[in-house]
Amino acid sequence: MRRHGVLTAVLLSGAVAHADAPPPAADASVRPAASSSAALAAQMALAQQIVLHGSPQGAHECAICHGEEGQGKIKAAFPHLAGLPKPYLERQLKHFDALARNNPSMQAIAHKLDDAQIAALATYFSRQVPPPIMSPVTPPPALGEALALRGRDAIPACVTCHGPGGRGLGGALSAAFPPIAGQPAVYLERQLRAWKNGQRPAGLDGLMGAIGKRLSEAEIVAVSQYFAAQPTLAATVATEARP
Ligand code: HEC
Ligand code: HEC
Repeated sequence: MRRHGVLTAVLLSGAVAHADAPPPAADASVRPAASSSAALAAQMALAQQIVLHGSPQGAHECAICHGEEGQGKIKAAFPHLAGLPKPYLERQLKHFDALARNNPSMQAIAHKLDDAQIAALATYFSRQVPPPIMSPVTPPPALGEALALRGRDAIPACVTCHGPGGRGLGGALSAAFPPIAGQPAVYLERQLRAWKNGQRPAGLDGLMGAIGKRLSEAEIVAVSQYFAAQPTLAATVATEARP
């Protein structure tokens, strides 16, 4: 408990500091590549080859499930990868490869990718624009909104770490704390249950492991529906962009 209080205070001060700072890094991460560096171009080309055609070692093409630009497939509960932070994507592929994160399809795929391919794919997807998810399929339940915005005893509000509307905190903090807005509800539920059952690495300081264990099944469903219904950064960037 005490440890959580300290962490949350640190995080909050980080989030506030970020809000005062100019927002360049967050914005750059959701736009297509602007840099013309040869190294970046080579990474993007390597990644695109794997996304569309698979890897020479036999990893399936990402596009089948995640879409060519990482837009995901809501009905199949395949998460979008577009616009997720590069260090986060890289970490997840390594967790699948090490069998620490439990999904047989992704474990088999990550196992057939080397470090350079993983870095290239993480770069590629982090530079795509997330799908413009705007409106809820069903109005999100009040229980989900309460947890997301206010938290409860021993569970800090989700937006403390996942940013307003779950669209991420941006800047350096995004390396640890991914955006979760607009992901398929079933996908989000599966992640929270994985933490509850110890089947996904707990993240920075064990935070999501501790939170997952405290969530009830009803809370998991409600809060997942809430964040699935939140617009992504791509859908709000026009209205929220600062002068
Ligand atoms: C057969 C379908 C399929 C293919 C092909 C596939 N994925 Fe996935 N991917 C999934 C599923 C399903 C999940 C969700 C796993 C879970 O529930 O933990 C996922 C999750 C991920 C995640 C974690 C996302 C997050 O928000 O934490 C990353 C990163 C990822 N995939 C990258 C890739 C890359 C890179 C490729 C291509 C080399 C690829 N995937 C190919 C089905 C697929
Ligand atoms: C104190 C900080 C903190 C709080 C509060 C928090 N999270 Fe997280 N969350 C994290 C971290 C750190 C990660 C990244 C874990 C990793 O690197 O694998 C994460 C990742 C996630 C993911 C995985 C996203 C993906 O693409 O797979 C989901 C889903 C999630 N959190 C949901 C929630 C929900 C719902 C709440 C509120 C009940 C919440 N989180 C509150 C820190 C937090």
